[in-house]
Amino acid sequence: MNITILTGAGVSAESGMKVFREKDGLWENHRIEDVATYEGYVRNKKLVHDFYNMLRAKVKKLDPNNAHIALAKLEQNWTKGKVYLITQNIDDLHERAGSKHVIHMHGVLNSMICEHCGKELEFFEASTSEDVCPHCGRALLRPNIVWFGEVPYYLDEIEQILGQTNVFLCIGTSGVVYPAAGFASLTKTNGALNIEFNLEKSKIASDFALGVYGKAGETLPSFVDKLLEMGDFSFLNKDNS
Ligand code: APR
Repeated sequence: MNITILTGAGVSAESGMKVFREKDGLWENHRIEDVATYEGYVRNKKLVHDFYNMLRAKVKKLDPNNAHIALAKLEQNWTKGKVYLITQNIDDLHERAGSKHVIHMHGVLNSMICEHCGKELEFFEASTSEDVCPHCGRALLRPNIVWFGEVPYYLDEIEQILGQTNVFLCIGTSGVVYPAAGFASLTKTNGALNIEFNLEKSKIASDFALGVYGKAGETLPSFVDKLLEMGDFSFLNKDNS
């Protein structure tokens, strides 16, 4: 029984990360179009470098929460099939909680990519638009983040994973950004058991047989413990109406 997990900003909220869709429509006090689009980057590279430098420095000071830890525990202890973890998050809190195989479909904060030669570099400090790519020598390094309008990473691999998924756990995502928001509909069509964990019903709640509503750091640990103890999902009451 293969389990596929998709996480979004909500899984890191209890660690102190801001979710994207706050009521003010801003992301960490910035307009999305300024800091999360290629057009915004071209308009003001310094602003965008500074923004991700701020975020990188902030994440360094945060700790994984009980939701990240529960998911790492599931990966390490599930013996009845595979566990795949796909995240839309750019932080490294899943890794720091102990998850070994994390698919970052929207890129990672601790990386830069050269716009000229495509070289990806691990990066943990503060970047500027003058930094030079060690591979091609051009000063065209940008944050290795998938911005709005860009194609997410690993889509072929993800398609394969979704095709082998028996249980799909969707955690802390509002279900408005595609293609990730379409994964639940795909796995449902394939006959998987879909479960969402969120504070409230997401935009795609009708794709889930079950919803577990509350803080993921509070709901996931007992869910994972029960699952590992029982070895199947028979303990669930599958009614998301
Ligand atoms: N536990 C569970 N869910 C939570 C928690 C929590 N403690 N806190 C917030 N949530 C839920 C919210 O109810 C919301 O549905 O997490 C969701 C966060 O939604 P978004 O802010 O829209 O984040 P996400 O879905 O990850 O955004 C997707 O959009 O901006 C782009 O590329 C960016 O990866 C991001 C993508």
